[in-house]
Amino acid sequence: MPSPSSIPRHIAIIMDGNGRWAKERGLPRLAGHRAGAESVRECVEACKELGVEYLTLYAFSSENWNRPAAEVTALMLLLERFLGEKADELMKQNVRLRAIGHLDRLPEKTRRKLDKAINRTAGNTSLTLVLALSYGSREEIVEAARSLAADAAAGKLDPATIDCATFASRLYTADIPDPDLLVRTSGELRVSNFLLWQISYAEIVIFKKFWPDFHQADLFEAAQEYARRHRRFGAL
Ligand code: FPP
Repeated sequence: MPSPSSIPRHIAIIMDGNGRWAKERGLPRLAGHRAGAESVRECVEACKELGVEYLTLYAFSSENWNRPAAEVTALMLLLERFLGEKADELMKQNVRLRAIGHLDRLPEKTRRKLDKAINRTAGNTSLTLVLALSYGSREEIVEAARSLAADAAAGKLDPATIDCATFASRLYTADIPDPDLLVRTSGELRVSNFLLWQISYAEIVIFKKFWPDFHQADLFEAAQEYARRHRRFGAL
C-alpha cells in the first residue's frame, strides 16, 4: 500500500464495460450493471482503507438518457435499491453521500431516495462518495458561465475579476478538491465529458478489465501507480 503522503485525496472513476461484461457471459446488460454495483461497494471500502477523502463515480451521464427506456429504468431502480440498501452501511462506515449533475432530470422517486440518503449521511466525516448522476461536464461548464454572465449583467460582478477560482466556485464541485487520480475501466482512452475542468492535472490510470471485474486490489494497484508518478503541474 502507498505511503500516506502519496495517497490521492480524490479519486474519480469512469466505470465502463458493464454491458460488455454481461454480453461476454450471455447475460442481459442489467446483470452487468448489478455486478457493477458490487464493484462500487468494494471501491468504497478500499478508499476508506487507504484514507482517500473523496471518491467520485460516473454513475449516469447526461448522454445515458439516450439509452433504451428499459435500461434507463433498470439503472434508476438499481440506484434506488443501492440508496435504500446501502444507506445503513454508509452510516456504519461514516461515509457521506453527495451527488453532482442535473439532478432535476432524475425520476421523482429516485431523487427523493437520493436526497434522503444525502441528508442522512450529511454529518459523516470519513470518505465522501460523490455520485455523478445525469452528469455532463460541458453542461456544467455552460451553466457556470451562464451564472457568471447573469451576475455580470445584473451589475453584481465585475467581469475583470473573474479568475479560475471564481469559475470553479460555480461548478457542481465548488467545495470539492479536484481529482488527483482518474481511473477508467474497459481500456477506452477517453474522458467522455466527465469532470473536464476538474481533471486538468489528474493522473490517469486505465484498466483493460470491465468494471464488474474491478475489485479492491485493482483500486490499490491504481493508488500504487499514482504514488509512482511524479506530479509536476506543468513545472519542472
Ligand atoms: C458503463 O457501462 C456503466 C454505466 C453507464 C452505469 C454505471 C452503473 C453502475 C456501475 C451500477 C450502479 C451504480 C451505482 C452507483 C449503484 P456500459 O453500460 O456503458 O458498458 P458497455 O460500454 O460495455 O456497454
